[in-house]
Amino acid sequence: QVAKQYQNDLKGKKILVTAGPTIERIDAVRYLTNNSSGRMGYAIAEAAQLRGADVTLVSGPVQLEVPNNVRFIQVESAAEMFDAVTKRMDQDIIIKAAAVADYTTERQHGKIKKKDEDLTLTLQRTQDILKYLGERKTTQYLAGFAAETEQVEMYARGKLAKKNADVIIANNVGDSSIGFKSDQNAVEMFFRNGMSRKIGKMPKREMAHEILTAIKQDIHVR
Ligand code: CTP
Ligand code: CA
Repeated sequence: QVAKQYQNDLKGKKILVTAGPTIERIDAVRYLTNNSSGRMGYAIAEAAQLRGADVTLVSGPVQLEVPNNVRFIQVESAAEMFDAVTKRMDQDIIIKAAAVADYTTERQHGKIKKKDEDLTLTLQRTQDILKYLGERKTTQYLAGFAAETEQVEMYARGKLAKKNADVIIANNVGDSSIGFKSDQNAVEMFFRNGMSRKIGKMPKREMAHEILTAIKQDIHVR
């Protein structure tokens, strides 16, 4: 299952991975969410566990099997994910693959009844979990993802700086054959030292190993 050269190379490392979308409830039956399948984060959690890491997976609602031997924490909203992650900051590596809602809304009691006039929902900003971690990190290595449809490098480098992350893993979600719902992914990793690394189109399971290896190498040269 796990290639020989990887065996136990992450042994003793505490790794927290976030995955999936979040859902923000509007009323008893409706909610706001996004297209994230959770596959990339789950693949990273599984790969890290196979390589000997002590893995915690904080996940929004997804249709995936939980990888074996990982500590699993199920959350729903961005606020719940914030609490779950910030309580567990004592990690060697934190990988934020979740597609966290940028906005939430005040949940209405019961089910909103239809009226003749239009309905306006007011959305409130959620907390940026990655930025919060970046502002408080000590020795943790912090990896973020960036889903972009254009000017990938510029936005990814902007997020790296703004969130004080160690790496941003950017995928171009404009290409529907890769990313989000797909089993394949192609990414480019942008590191703090100005270096970048492209990882070509491959299944997310293989991509997960490539990402972990690149992070491990970056930690060694850091
Ligand atoms: N992220 C987070 N908390 C949020 C929003 C995003 O931790 N409330 C994290 C994501 O998990 C991801 C990274 O920030 O690792 C980048 O997310 P992305 O949505 O690409 O960037 P944003 O900063 O939210 O900017 P925008 O959506 O406008 O591109
Ligand atoms: Ca966002």
